[in-house]
Amino acid sequence: MPDFKTLDDLPDDLTGKVALVRVDLNLPMQDGSATDVTRVEAVKPTLLELTDKGAKVLLLAHYGRPGGMRSSVLSTSFVQGDVERVLGKELMFIPEIAGPLVDQALGILRPGDIGLLDNTRFWPGEEENDPNLAQAMARSGDFYVNDAFSAAHRAHASTEGIAQFLPAYAGRAMEAELTALDQALGNPETPVAAVVGGAKVSTKLAVLEHLVGKVQHLIIGGGMANTFLAARGVNVGKSLAEHDLTDTASKIIDEADHAGCTVHLPYDVVVAKEFAANPESLRTCNVHEVAEDEMILDIGPQAAEALADVLKTCRTVVWNGPLGAFETEPFDRATVALARTAAALTQEGSLTSVAGGGDTVAALAQADVTEDFTYISAAGGAFLEWMEGKDLPGVKALHAANG
Ligand code: 3PG
Repeated sequence: MPDFKTLDDLPDDLTGKVALVRVDLNLPMQDGSATDVTRVEAVKPTLLELTDKGAKVLLLAHYGRPGGMRSSVLSTSFVQGDVERVLGKELMFIPEIAGPLVDQALGILRPGDIGLLDNTRFWPGEEENDPNLAQAMARSGDFYVNDAFSAAHRAHASTEGIAQFLPAYAGRAMEAELTALDQALGNPETPVAAVVGGAKVSTKLAVLEHLVGKVQHLIIGGGMANTFLAARGVNVGKSLAEHDLTDTASKIIDEADHAGCTVHLPYDVVVAKEFAANPESLRTCNVHEVAEDEMILDIGPQAAEALADVLKTCRTVVWNGPLGAFETEPFDRATVALARTAAALTQEGSLTSVAGGGDTVAALAQADVTEDFTYISAAGGAFLEWMEGKDLPGVKALHAANG
């Protein structure tokens, strides 16, 4: 298990102490309110634990990408109401991240209160990881808690730099995330299967290259599978595929062979002439029978069943990306079926299942298995970088702080 301090290492009574807590409030918004508050729910246990112990909590968060300038539409105050609703607690909004205004606010906040600082990315030093800004933020707090795994791939002042200036702890969400990820790829029970889907090989090359050396089964789905099929000489018709990457795909297959990793590609597929819900031209066929004017939109039922059999032989699965065009019926079927198999095996106790990434979370919700996986990460870019085997600066800073 990785080595970092958690909230267990803090004293029971934090009255009079100020906790600077990095959270991810980059919430999807529509008409002024969040359409998904998973990230707030994730940090709620940490925030309530700290406030119950009497700490004053200051929330550090980014919102969008304002690029080092104040933006009237990207203030964290826009998510204040959503955060208050989830926490069941009022927040004090503080339109700064350091300095006299923050000190003044700390004079007003009582033990157990929470202040919401403005968007850290309004200050250019945030993304530059400027030590002066990190130190200025650190001055307001007695200790730092990072509970934002989904921002931990950024080496920013509020995710990395600040940990150099204050005792640093992983929050409960970060702790759970790192524990689950360690179980999935760090020290997993073998055999391990990785499901990697999504539209493009080009966005997940580093993931595939890393995984072939780590897992025993690599299940490729989505548009990515078409590029691999094309590399194997299959005519994929007008399917989404990156034909310029077929050599790369062949190289990955060779590397997998050498490493003893089985690459699973579908041998039957669901095709249609147009991409629409339940189109008239819908049919299932062998991969070698795709017509020039057809596109592959999901893997077929036989391939899905074979993949379910693969999962039954595995002890761990790590999942990123859907197997088909899951937002449109009936091209969600393989993803839903395999997700339900993984969920059932997890509930039986034979499989550890860890999934992450925006599309994946939506696909697993559609399969109604969100509660049945061992762990589902709300992180997007950070989850992918972790799957690439990269050290995430925000996580590394927590280890270093402990060293
Ligand atoms: C996310 O939404 O994935 C995180 O908050 C990171 O955001 P970023 O990609 O703008 O750094």
